[in-house]
Amino acid sequence: MDGSRGGFFIALEGIDGSGTSTQTRKLASRLLEEVGERVHETCEPSRGPIGRMIREQLSAGSAAFDGQTLALLFAADRLDHYRREIEPALRDGCVVISDRYVLSSLVYQSLECDPTWVETINSRAPWPDLCVLVDLPWETALDRVNRRLASDGGEKERYDEPDLQRRLAEGYQRARDAQRPGPIVTVDGGLGIGAVTDELFRLCTTQLAARRARADS
Ligand code: TYD
Repeated sequence: MDGSRGGFFIALEGIDGSGTSTQTRKLASRLLEEVGERVHETCEPSRGPIGRMIREQLSAGSAAFDGQTLALLFAADRLDHYRREIEPALRDGCVVISDRYVLSSLVYQSLECDPTWVETINSRAPWPDLCVLVDLPWETALDRVNRRLASDGGEKERYDEPDLQRRLAEGYQRARDAQRPGPIVTVDGGLGIGAVTDELFRLCTTQLAARRARADS
């Protein structure tokens, strides 16, 4: 990060159904309402042109790109997202919360591609100030995804399969254990929605205060 006084960049990560989208919204509201932070909520795939193309490709029904092409698209979307949206918001002093970021590529795209190559093509995207893995057993997470699909009639995506979800959960654990390619903090996603938000809020406000104290000294 560029070290600007106010900006702070948080990425929430986890397997599908772990609750990163819900927690992004809830954390953003609490940072705004309780501590008056200016917050910029975002996600990956991004809402930009490359992100929109990726989302179309991810729905299981469409003719998907092969794994390597998809990995390059995710990396391109990320760099574009960072330069176009995240970096300006940080420079402006916002807390940026991204629902998924670099770690998603390292875990998801490494299912089909060489992990070192995936790391290389993502190396220009700066690691966030705080990367949190919302950790949930893959069976529970997949159950949530299936219930959501049954109730809102959404489309099944490329990764919504039991064996893949298990391998993705293992990928996140490996990254967390190795603390690679950067520091990863874990929050227990099984605590219940409110308790997970409490924990994320505590982590963010503590780290934000420490960063600002350093910047002031
Ligand atoms: P997701 O956040 O689950 O989207 P939605 O909010 O629409 O459910 O992201 C879509 C899928 O994209 C998800 O299965 C994970 C996958 N993905 C990757 O494979 N690599 C990446 O780098 C990112 C950001 C997402």
